[in-house]
Amino acid sequence: MIIEGSLVDLRPLTSSNFSDFNKWHYNPDVSRFLGMKPLPREPCLKLFNSYLSDEKGVYFGIQVKNSDQLIGYTFLTKILKIHRVARELGIVIGDPKFWGQGYGTEASILLTDYGFNNLGLHRIELLVLDFNSRARYVYEKIGFTVEGVQREARYIDGSWHDVYMMAKLSDIK
Ligand SMILES: CC(C)(COP(=O)(O)OP(=O)(O)OC[C@H]1O[C@@H](n2cnc3c(N)ncnc32)[C@H](O)[C@@H]1OP(=O)(O)O)[C@@H](O)C(=O)NCCC(=O)NCCS
Repeated sequence: MIIEGSLVDLRPLTSSNFSDFNKWHYNPDVSRFLGMKPLPREPCLKLFNSYLSDEKGVYFGIQVKNSDQLIGYTFLTKILKIHRVARELGIVIGDPKFWGQGYGTEASILLTDYGFNNLGLHRIELLVLDFNSRARYVYEKIGFTVEGVQREARYIDGSWHDVYMMAKLSDIK
């Protein structure tokens, strides 16, 4: 299933995407926003395989429109079917040179629309670190609301950081 946008398309993540995935997760300028250390190959492969075999989630590569350029990935997981809730949305544009060009905004709109319209979700949740103001701004721009704060929930590079809990509800009644 390919989800088509005007700047990017979302395509199912496959095992052939691992070398890109590894590059993205090895970059400290990217991984810090995920609250992670740069991941060497082995733990990264473990993480990647856990995504490919996750039965409670959907994972897509983000590809620049009309090109072969894969720039990141996005997913909905921890889906509670009975409640029609996805407890985690994630998104990574893996190379900072692609930040700030509208790709992340469009990819997250495509993904949330897919979640609400195709998966029948009623609510999508995510977590964002307090220093990730770019991501928080994008989430607010596309309709997510901060519902709570997990105070000093992560210890990163010698200091404590809050984690914002955000969610968006479907407007389908
Ligand atoms: C967060 C992320 C997905 C956003 O994707 P992106 O393609 O860079 O986002 P866009 O270009 O669509 O939009 C960025 C917006 O943030 C704004 N922005 C940029 N830096 C900002 C900052 N420091 N604080 C607030 N807003 C900022 C831009 O002006 C732009 O808004 P505009 O379109 O209204 O002008 C991407 O930067 C990324 O993958 N970062 C690293 C991993 C990450 O943080 N993932 C999310 C974890 S919760």
